[in-house]
Amino acid sequence: MRIDKLLANMGYGTRKEVKNLLKSGGVRVNNEPEKSPKTHVDPEKDVVTVMGETVEYRKYIYLMLNKPGDLLSATEDPHDMTVIDILQPEDQIFEPFPVGRLDKDTEGLLLITNDGQLAHRLTSPKKDIGKTYYATIDGKVSEEDVTAFSKGIELDDGYVTKPAELEILKSNDISEIELTITEGKFHQVKRMFEAVGKRVTYLKRLKIGELHLDEELELGEYRELGDDELDYLLTITKLND
Ligand code: URA
Repeated sequence: MRIDKLLANMGYGTRKEVKNLLKSGGVRVNNEPEKSPKTHVDPEKDVVTVMGETVEYRKYIYLMLNKPGDLLSATEDPHDMTVIDILQPEDQIFEPFPVGRLDKDTEGLLLITNDGQLAHRLTSPKKDIGKTYYATIDGKVSEEDVTAFSKGIELDDGYVTKPAELEILKSNDISEIELTITEGKFHQVKRMFEAVGKRVTYLKRLKIGELHLDEELELGEYRELGDDELDYLLTITKLND
C-alpha cells in the first residue's frame, strides 16, 4: 500500500496534507526517513512512525448504529441523508457501508463495516442467522398467525419465506410482537404481515443472532463493536462453511 494512502486512512490528514508531512521529514519507515508519497509499505510488517509516534494500522472498522427512522441504509444518495453521512470523518475514512438494509423508516440495530466478507456472510440466507424485530401492528395478531409464520408465509410475489418465529407480546387492535427471520427479502417483515391482512406501523431491529442493540445508544448514536461482539459475529458466520 502507498504510504500516503496508509497515512491518510489512519487519519493523518488528506493526501495533500500527508504529502507535506512526508516532505517535512516527520515520517520514518523502519527507522529510515521517508519523503516520497509513492513509496509502498507493508502495513502489517513495516514500522511507520510520524513525529516518533508509531502508526497503528487497522484495516477494518466495525460499528453498531441505533438507526433512526429518517436515514437511508446506503453509502450515498442525491436526496436523502444516509447512515454513512452521520459518521465521524475518522470513521468515514475507512469507506464503510451498511450490512444489509433496513427501510428508511425502520429503527434499531444496523451494523456498518468495510469488511466485505463478514457483511456477505451475515446477510447470506444460507447461514440461517436470525434477525429479530420488534413491531407494532395495526390489527389483532393471533395464534393462527404464529402457526402460519412458523410454516413460512407466501408473499405478494409468490415467494414463500422460510419459517419465522413470531412471539405475541400484546394482542389487541394494535398488537405488539417480536419476529425472528433468517432472510432479508425486500420489506420482508411488512410484507409478511400484509400477507395475513395486517399492517406494520413501527419496526425496530433488536438483534442479529445474539448480538443485541446496545440500549445505551440513543437513536442516531453509534459505537465500535467490542472484542467479544466481533468474535461472536466472526464465529457464527464461520459455522456451516
Ligand atoms: N423488514 C422490513 O419490512 N423492513 C425492514 O427494514 C427490515 C425487515
